[in-house]
Amino acid sequence: MSSSESTNARTRTASWFSTPFFVIVLPVAVAALLYRLEPFKPVLLPVQLGRSTVAVPARNGHMQDGSERVGEGHLEGPEDLAYDAAARVVYTGCEDGWIKRVTVNDSVVDSAVEDWVNTGGRPLGLVLKPNGELIVADAEKGLLRVSSEKEIELLVDEFEGLKFKLTDGVDIADDGTIYFTDASHKYPVKDAVFDVLEGKPNGRFFSYNPATKKTTLLAQDLYFANGVAVSADQQFVVFCESVLMRCNKYFVLGPKTGTIEKFCDLPGMPDNIHYDGQGHYLIAMFTALSPELELAYRYPFIRKAFAMFTKYVGSLSISKNGGVLVVDLEGKPTAHYYDPKLALTSAIKIGNHIYAGSIFYPFVTRFDVEKYPALPTV
Ligand SMILES: *[C@@H]1O[C@H](CO)[C@@H](O)[C@H](O)[C@H]1NC(C)=O
Repeated sequence: MSSSESTNARTRTASWFSTPFFVIVLPVAVAALLYRLEPFKPVLLPVQLGRSTVAVPARNGHMQDGSERVGEGHLEGPEDLAYDAAARVVYTGCEDGWIKRVTVNDSVVDSAVEDWVNTGGRPLGLVLKPNGELIVADAEKGLLRVSSEKEIELLVDEFEGLKFKLTDGVDIADDGTIYFTDASHKYPVKDAVFDVLEGKPNGRFFSYNPATKKTTLLAQDLYFANGVAVSADQQFVVFCESVLMRCNKYFVLGPKTGTIEKFCDLPGMPDNIHYDGQGHYLIAMFTALSPELELAYRYPFIRKAFAMFTKYVGSLSISKNGGVLVVDLEGKPTAHYYDPKLALTSAIKIGNHIYAGSIFYPFVTRFDVEKYPALPTV
C-alpha cells in the first residue's frame, strides 16, 4: 500500500467513526443497556416535596468567612466530636480508625492532636461518660466502650441475628441507658451513598442497658438513621433520619413512653445532633436540599443514574449549603449557619465557638458565633 492510500484509508476510517452512529447512537445504546442490566433499583421516597423552606428566624449563609481550621492535616474525616471540659480536649473519630484528642486553645495554632486509641474500624458517633469512658458508635465494629485506660470492649453488634452494618449515632441518658442507631443493616459505611440513593428504610434505633447488657429495638424501617440526642429533661430521645430530612423524638419517660412524635423538619440532610447545655440543639447537615437533590428525591431513575455514575465513573458531589441548624428545646429552629461549599457532620458548642466535624475534611472547623452571628431574616 502506498503512503497516500494508507492516509486515505485512515481518513475513511476516521470519518466512519465520526458518523452519527458512533458519536451518538452507540454511546446512548450502551448507556441504555447498562442501565437496563444494572440490578440497583431505587424506590419512591415517602416525602412531601417542595418543603425546602423550613422557616428560620436568623441565618448566616457565609459560615466559612471567619471559620478557622483546627488540627489541619492530623485528622482524616473527623466525623463526630465529644468535649471533655475538664481536660479541655475534644475527642473525634477518624477515617483511619483513630479516635484522636484535640486540645482546645484560644488560638487554633496552639491546638495539639494526639492519637488516643484505634478501634480498627470506623468510629462515628461518640459520647463521653462522666467517669472518662467513651461510648463509640463504630460503623464497622458496632457499639463499643473505651475505658479511660484505652481498653476497648464490644457491647453489641447485632440484634436478633441481624448484624449492624453502619452503627452511626449515640448518646447516653443520666440513668446510664445508651441510645444508638444503625444507619443501615444493608450497606457498609463505604457504600453509604447507595443506601441513601436506593431510598429503602434499612435503619434501626436501639437502646442498650449496660447493667443487663440487653439491647432493645425502639424503632425500625428508618431512612438512614443517624444522630441521637437525649433531651435536656430526659423525657425523650431525638433521632435523625438523614434521607427524610427530619428528626423524631422517642419518649422514654412519662405518659407518652414508647411513642414517637416529630421533633423537627430540616432544610437539608442531618447527621449528628448535640445538646449545647444551654437550651439548644445543634444539628449538623452535610447538604441542604438543592434543586438537583430535589429532583433525585422525586425520581428514582435519577437516583439510579447517580448510583451508576458513582459506581462506574466516580463520586458525584451534589452536596451544597451544608452547615448547622440550631433548634430550641421544642425543636423550633432559631438559627441557621451554612455556606455554599460547606459539608458538616457534627457540631458542638464550646464557649463562643461552634466546633464542627466533617467526614469530608482533614480538620475540625471552628466558628465564632458572637463575632459572626446569624442575623434576623425578616
Ligand atoms: C493548649 O491546650 C492544652 C490543653 O489544655 C495545653 O496543655 C497547652 O499548654 C495549650 N497550649 C498553649 C500554647 O496554650
